[in-house]
Amino acid sequence: MSVLLTNIGELVTNAPPGQPADPGAFLAVTDAALVIEAGQVAWTGPAARAPAADQLIDCDGRAVLPGFVDSHAHLIFGGERSGEFAARMAGVPYQAGGIQVTVAATREASDAQLRANAGSLAAEMARQGTTTFECKSGYGLTVADERRSVALAADITPEVTFLGAHVVPPEYAADPGGYLDVVRGPMLSACAPYARWVDVFCEQGAFGADEARAVLAAGRAAGLIPRVHANQLGHGPGVQVAVEAGAASADHCTFLADRDVDALAASGTVATLLPGVEFATRQPYPDARRLLDAGVTVALATDCNPGSCFTSSMALCVALAVREMRMTPQEAVWAATAGGARALRRPDVGHLQIGARADLVLLDAPSHVYLAYRPGVPLTAAVWCDGELVAGRPPRT
Ligand code: NIG
Ligand code: FE
Repeated sequence: MSVLLTNIGELVTNAPPGQPADPGAFLAVTDAALVIEAGQVAWTGPAARAPAADQLIDCDGRAVLPGFVDSHAHLIFGGERSGEFAARMAGVPYQAGGIQVTVAATREASDAQLRANAGSLAAEMARQGTTTFECKSGYGLTVADERRSVALAADITPEVTFLGAHVVPPEYAADPGGYLDVVRGPMLSACAPYARWVDVFCEQGAFGADEARAVLAAGRAAGLIPRVHANQLGHGPGVQVAVEAGAASADHCTFLADRDVDALAASGTVATLLPGVEFATRQPYPDARRLLDAGVTVALATDCNPGSCFTSSMALCVALAVREMRMTPQEAVWAATAGGARALRRPDVGHLQIGARADLVLLDAPSHVYLAYRPGVPLTAAVWCDGELVAGRPPRT
């Protein structure tokens, strides 16, 4: 069955994947139409020349965008940490150690509780226009708890990341090397069948450069592709380790030296910025402009997790990136769609060229600019994923 969306005020297609991430990579046409067929974008062009289809949807001058690609999220966890957030807002700094609170709650939780929590967050994402998301383990930190975390993640997304190297759990506090051996050995073996990616939190209070290198090398040997939590809480080796390892992305990138920016610019590693974290931890925002001007490919993602940032809203990330990180609305929307797709090495999503997966969002607004211009307002009218309507109720004619 074919579906024709017509009378689209602004259709954001983005350039085909593989083209350089220059400002021209954001592409939009006005007075457009788009045909969905067999789960893919089958046709785009001027509304006046649209072909016939089985079903017609009149978009009434509103904007259609590629579905958001949230390339960084931690959805498998128990409990919550609103008290820690309130304390931060009263002046207590964010520390990596807070992760242990969620580790304890996750170990306590049943599979059913973890599944229900992750499922409701995934549904929340879909309602807000996210059609592809990544999901990490990292709150289990035993072989069994990490295995069940990646298994549960694999039920909700193909983009599963093994993050056994999130922090050293309390039972290994006196023997971090012993924990690293578990991560690289039996934990990795148990988790690799469910995962596509391997990640490490390379930061003071988590893992150092050599430890991170060892985790990524073991993950790679098990068939996983590296990504790194890098330079979140201070300057450090995370970005260099990520680039050296050929990581798909270095995430956070809040504290960067010039040599980090240069290394990213000369590499295929995407800089994934997570402005919700700076919002929720009262840290300085990363300087997206500096990265973009240096030619670095930038993605935006939520980092949805109970500690450093408990939002699932890509629209919020776009608004923060525009207001606080010196990105234009075009750059921010590109980073939240095509940029995320680059960070996940997914040529089929993040754009609406012919042949793309039919993942799209109909906004209750005439253009993408409204995502930043009307922050905090629910602008998602309808969402299609793989050609299926998954949220909202578009008008039919
Ligand atoms: O991406 N940085 C490490 N991990 C998460 C935080 C997790 C937590 O505080 O629970 C992050 O910010
Ligand atoms: Fe994270």
